[in-house]
Amino acid sequence: MENLYKNYFHLEAPRGLLNDPNGLTYFQGTYYVFHQWNRFDLHHGYKEWGLFTSNDLLRWEHQGSALLPDSDKDVSGVYSGSALVIEDKLHIFYTGNSKIDGKRRSLQCQAISEDGKTFQKNDSVITTPEEYTEHHRDPKVWSDQNGYHMIVGSQTKTGQGAIAYYQSIDCKEWNYRGIFYTSKDLEQMAECPDYFELDGESVLLVCPQKRDLRNDKDISGYSAHYIGNLNRNEFHPKTEIRPIDDGFDFHAPQTFLDPKGRRLMWAWMSRMNSKEEEACPTREFGYLHCLTMPRELRVIDGKLYQLPLQEILERRILIESLETVRYESEELATQSVIDMTWSNSPSSFELAFFDQNVTLVYKNQEFILSRISWSDKQVHTKTVPLKELTALQIFIDSSAMEFFINQGEKVMSLRYFLQQENRSCDIRSSHQMKITYSKLES
Ligand code: FRU
Repeated sequence: MENLYKNYFHLEAPRGLLNDPNGLTYFQGTYYVFHQWNRFDLHHGYKEWGLFTSNDLLRWEHQGSALLPDSDKDVSGVYSGSALVIEDKLHIFYTGNSKIDGKRRSLQCQAISEDGKTFQKNDSVITTPEEYTEHHRDPKVWSDQNGYHMIVGSQTKTGQGAIAYYQSIDCKEWNYRGIFYTSKDLEQMAECPDYFELDGESVLLVCPQKRDLRNDKDISGYSAHYIGNLNRNEFHPKTEIRPIDDGFDFHAPQTFLDPKGRRLMWAWMSRMNSKEEEACPTREFGYLHCLTMPRELRVIDGKLYQLPLQEILERRILIESLETVRYESEELATQSVIDMTWSNSPSSFELAFFDQNVTLVYKNQEFILSRISWSDKQVHTKTVPLKELTALQIFIDSSAMEFFINQGEKVMSLRYFLQQENRSCDIRSSHQMKITYSKLES
């Protein structure tokens, strides 16, 4: 049977279950996107690192396994982490997870590679400091003139999400320096933290996770960010906590600085709930989940912006461009981009894709994205307040879509699975819009 869901510009593993992007880096002329991977099955019971590589951020090759849970430090999984190139060697930082007789242990581990193919695990590891539980994972490492820095997603012994901070002068011996950031915003656990400076601002990304502390079960999670200041190893937010992506399918983002000096981000698309994962139609083709497209981050007027990657924009092949208030198409290409701009914000705007499978309404200064769920068949909705709509750019892949609103001021992502081949689209705007429809060259 033909796989109608196979995406072209959203990375998917050839089989098994993929989750978080890990170890993003550029090493010896190649981009590396590692990822959490169960290569054997479609559940979360086994985790190793798989690897995609590319020379141009457009054509990617899956290289199979990179780091296996093959030592007593990581028997229950090589969990998420990051990468850093030091003196032409690729250093990988990850969490070695073990659960023996129901007892969880997390160790922050390091492996080194000279060729990006084979990795030598170090013997020394970081054990969890006294004030945290063993929910201590996802090391993100960076370096500057003061040496090496590591933040780790944590849970305090009182059950609050927190981020731990470590420092090193040689990237071998690490010293725990205290709490980088904690707050009630971080719920009961803080997964996958990331920190960077961008456009003169300090940005913290984090995934607060709700956990039931009585039975230690994960309830839900999302990806958020703050803009703030770094003051002696402590982060102080100056904004409230804000979601990174306001859509349905976005979790565990990670960033890195590319050779052009751009801060690029990928995320897992997505942390479905267990019913959605169970009903996900790609199962019959032996795999689950994909990553988002790479996005370039910027901070403009104190706000985090996300822009589609320039290299992907350059792959657009124009099909038509017109000024109108209504646009219809019977058959959108499976990989396409629709660009809309307004010189005056419409008071109302409506869009229906694929016979109402995915819809979008802008009215009363609210932007409402809906989709029919493949699991319970109900309409689910995400809403963001939006003062005006001046630009909308929609990237449509075979089973994934990303909506960039007002040049990246907001982004909404979703997976969709069309059971029958209906690729129609109907767009109506109260005000004249310039609309451009392009195919994406694969
Ligand atoms: C986030 C996460 C990480 C962990 C990994 C395990 O999705 O739960 O905190 O390291 O997935 O696969």
